[in-house]
Amino acid sequence: MPERPDPMAVDPPTALAGDAALVERGGTLWCEGVALSDLADSVGTPCYVYSETLIRRRYAAFSAAFAAVPHRIFYSVKANHNVSILRLMHGLGAGADVVSAGELYRARRAGFAGREIVFGGVGKRSDELEAALEAGVLFVNVESEGELRLLAELAGARGVVAPVALRVNPGVEAGKHAFTQTGHYKTKFGVAWEEAERLYEFAAASRHLAPVAIDTHIGSQILSAEPYDRALERLGQLLNGISRRGIKLRYLDMGGGFGVPYEGEAEIDLAAVARSAGKLAVEFNLTCAVEPGRWLVAPAGVLLTRVLYMKRLGEQNYCVVDAGSNDFLRPSYYGARHPVEAVRRGEPAIEVDVVGPVCETGDFLGRACLLPATDAGDLLAVLFAGAYGAVMSSNYNSRPRAAEVLVSGDAHRVIRRRESLEDLLAAEVADDE
Ligand SMILES: Cc1ncc(COP(=O)(O)O)c(C=O)c1O
Repeated sequence: MPERPDPMAVDPPTALAGDAALVERGGTLWCEGVALSDLADSVGTPCYVYSETLIRRRYAAFSAAFAAVPHRIFYSVKANHNVSILRLMHGLGAGADVVSAGELYRARRAGFAGREIVFGGVGKRSDELEAALEAGVLFVNVESEGELRLLAELAGARGVVAPVALRVNPGVEAGKHAFTQTGHYKTKFGVAWEEAERLYEFAAASRHLAPVAIDTHIGSQILSAEPYDRALERLGQLLNGISRRGIKLRYLDMGGGFGVPYEGEAEIDLAAVARSAGKLAVEFNLTCAVEPGRWLVAPAGVLLTRVLYMKRLGEQNYCVVDAGSNDFLRPSYYGARHPVEAVRRGEPAIEVDVVGPVCETGDFLGRACLLPATDAGDLLAVLFAGAYGAVMSSNYNSRPRAAEVLVSGDAHRVIRRRESLEDLLAAEVADDE
């Protein structure tokens, strides 16, 4: 049994990589005051482990960076939608950025009022727009003329006025991976910035639409303030045109996208982004809406997995673990590189590909990872797994989804139980029924 640290002494924790969720103590890894080996014994593996203290600390740091700007944080639910994480965010004072009826349902169940929610998404169905109107969201981020017209119709049928923003595609490239860029015309998002003024005029003229905000979101995993500056410059030009037409908005929604140092990169300068957004917000007397997801939760989570087999094929070492790409898709989907750490500490001794049990060559958690001497039964932790981890998991290969655990000090609770085999068939009509 590892020596149990004083949970207060690990706040702030001595992070393994950047502002990560784990601390090393007594030759093994802990999340706050809970040994990962104890968690693996009691909850099983694979499981996601989140540090509540770190989420709180990161929320406070994010707020501090925007403190000089009139702003409101709308946590981007897609990053980690577990209802316990949503409740935590709500308790911290966040609103919610949702992109589907499902996310809206989760946010409402977590306690967010309609006025604390912004509703986005490139392909909203009419029932989803209806749900947004029913909930009384703060505004709907509209992404096409067709959607704007449909929303006017639906609001008219209900006899209400829908508060809207147009999500503007500013024609800006940002972020490292093509799949996480959303702010230029080779991506499907938003309305063309050249069309935006005309659409604001249409909205202003409609009896059932109230243009209240302008919105953009240029991508994800952005580590520099510079692309935000370019997008905000474009929004500034549009805001000039919109206000010349006598349309008065209340919010500048600059989206999310703030990156984290998965590979030890320099941190994004949030204060610099806030200064640029603040300048524009003050000039047009707007409140800044920010939609961070990854930045708040990625470093606060790890994926805990157990080694099943070690094997060697020619010169190549493989470490086969019990978590696969169905549990954690980012490495195979985005080519993301996450640090993989041995829970029992030791000097690096082998270079291995850490792979899962899924029948796909693309099923890996880490390539060329340096690990200490490792055997079947040992535990590994994949760091920075708190965002776009559990939410992107699937039942591929009929693998039940992993459990999720929230740690606070020396206490922990299971916030999503491990799925059972029965869960796999719960939504299907089985032949024997
Ligand atoms: C509209 C919108 N807002 C916010 C986010 C959150 O992005 P991130 O987690 O990179 O902050 C996303 C993610 O893709 C998004 O599409």
